[in-house]
Order: sequence, then C-alpha cells, then structure tokens
Amino acid sequence: MAGRVPTPVVRRLEKAARAAARAAYAPYSDFPVGSAVLGNSGRIYSGCNVENASYGLCNCAERTAVFTAVAAGERAVEAVVVYTPTATATAPCGACRQVLAEFGPQAVVISICDSPERLETIVPALLPAAFGPGDLGRRPSARRR
Ligand code: THU
Repeated sequence: MAGRVPTPVVRRLEKAARAAARAAYAPYSDFPVGSAVLGNSGRIYSGCNVENASYGLCNCAERTAVFTAVAAGERAVEAVVVYTPTATATAPCGACRQVLAEFGPQAVVISICDSPERLETIVPALLPAAFGPGDLGRRPSARRR
C-alpha cells in the first residue's frame, strides 16, 4: 500500500513527522503529535498539534501539516505520516480524515510510534463514502492561482 510511495520518501516523511512532534504545543493533553505530508510537487510539509485553553480550538498535527502544504500552494497530498511518542500507533481523528479526503482522497496514511507497531492504510478506508466537493457539484482540488 505504502508501495505507492518510494521507501526513501516514506523515510523522509517519518523523520519529518518525528521532528515535528518536538514542536507540539500540547500542555493540556500532554499528547504530542507530529505529522508530515507529501505534496503533489514532491515537497514535504510538517506540522504538530497546537492546543488552546479553549479546548475545542485544538488543532491536530495532521491538519496543521495539510494546511501548511495548502498555504504553500499545494492542492493535493499523496501521503501522510502521523507520529506519536507512544507504544501504539495513532490513526487520524475524524476531523483530520475529512480534511485529508479534501486534499488527498487517495492518499496513503501511515502511523508510526516508539514501538515497531505501524498502521498503513489509505484515506478511503479511513473515511468511506466521504462527503466531498463532488457533493457540492464542484470539482475537487481547485487549481492553484
Ligand atoms: N491529535 C492529533 O494531533 N492527531 C491525532 O491523530 C489524534 C489527536 C491531538 C489533538 C490533541 O491536541 C491531542 O492529540 C489529544 O487529543
């Protein structure tokens, strides 16, 4: 499955996700997360979770990484790595799955942690029958300006 992404690229994404977790702002959950996404251009963007005293405003690492990619001009994401410094791997939350469906409807999703446990899947498996731009009569992934 991750075979769609060359192994050296997966390794770079993993390294970037691990590094990103070090910047996590997670004083409330004490659950740091790092993520890295592979943009259509081949560039890698990373992000961490950013929490808030108003808990509902917490932003997950995956969304930070995707939004950073989009802000840099990317409109499609091909792979996502999520790293948590835990014994078990963490899959993206529902909100992040929806955001991934927007920008990476076929993206590979890999979760890694501090044990050999590893999850490898794709966005359609994480969010089947997703609501998307097609439901609005729009074409997905609006062109870059
Ligand atoms: N979190 C992520 O950043 N990504 C996930 O995949 C799961 C959860 C964050 C949100 C919050 O800051 C903390 O982890 C605890 O839920």
